[in-house]
Amino acid sequence: MNGTRPGGAGRASFTVAVDGPAAAGKGTIARAIAARFGLAHLDTGLLYRAVGLRAAAGEEPEAAARALAAADLDRPGLRGEAAAGWASRVAAIPAVRAALLDFQRTFARRPGGAVLDGRDIGTVVCPEAEVKLFVTASPEVRARRRWLEQGGEAAAVLAEVQTRDARDAGRADAPLRAAPDAVVIDTSAMDAEAAVAAAAAVVAARLPPG
Ligand code: DC
Repeated sequence: MNGTRPGGAGRASFTVAVDGPAAAGKGTIARAIAARFGLAHLDTGLLYRAVGLRAAAGEEPEAAARALAAADLDRPGLRGEAAAGWASRVAAIPAVRAALLDFQRTFARRPGGAVLDGRDIGTVVCPEAEVKLFVTASPEVRARRRWLEQGGEAAAVLAEVQTRDARDAGRADAPLRAAPDAVVIDTSAMDAEAAVAAAAAVVAARLPPG
């Protein structure tokens, strides 16, 4: 166990919800929190990406979500921008979201505790989460991070980020927004270490003594 507190097996359920737009630092924070406090981690974006890739191959999106299997999370291209675009499209379909809900809720409440990162964890998947973080940054900063990772035309990367933000925040079902009781962490002027430290301080304050 890597934690600063006892965690894992002996603890009852304890859910950390990490929501926010693309490239805000959610994944980095969620992975670090999971390692530090001995919690399981689920990147829920991967579920939507896997459904997106199956839909891109011609499958009906709801059927793809119902048939999702562990092997889908090893698909090549899962973390690329094409999969992200497809994920954002299938994520707007209520039946797809509904099909993925039980798996996420069960994961969130597993004994020992869990961190889930996504767009609607604190609002829809686990509104009773013990910790809710909303991790954000300006579109320009997020686009620059994406551009440093993947290269390409800077203006096109910014446009892609803005399109995805608009689709994720504008959809009728489970739109991207901060839960009223979420702690907002704006990482625009933070490096990864500072962002993780800010998140860890919130979690540490809420973790029951182990
Ligand atoms: O976090 P990500 O970039 O891997 O997410 C890909 C897309 O999946 C994102 O544009 C919106 C969607 N998504 C969602 O609607 N709800 C989630 N909990 C996670 C991701």
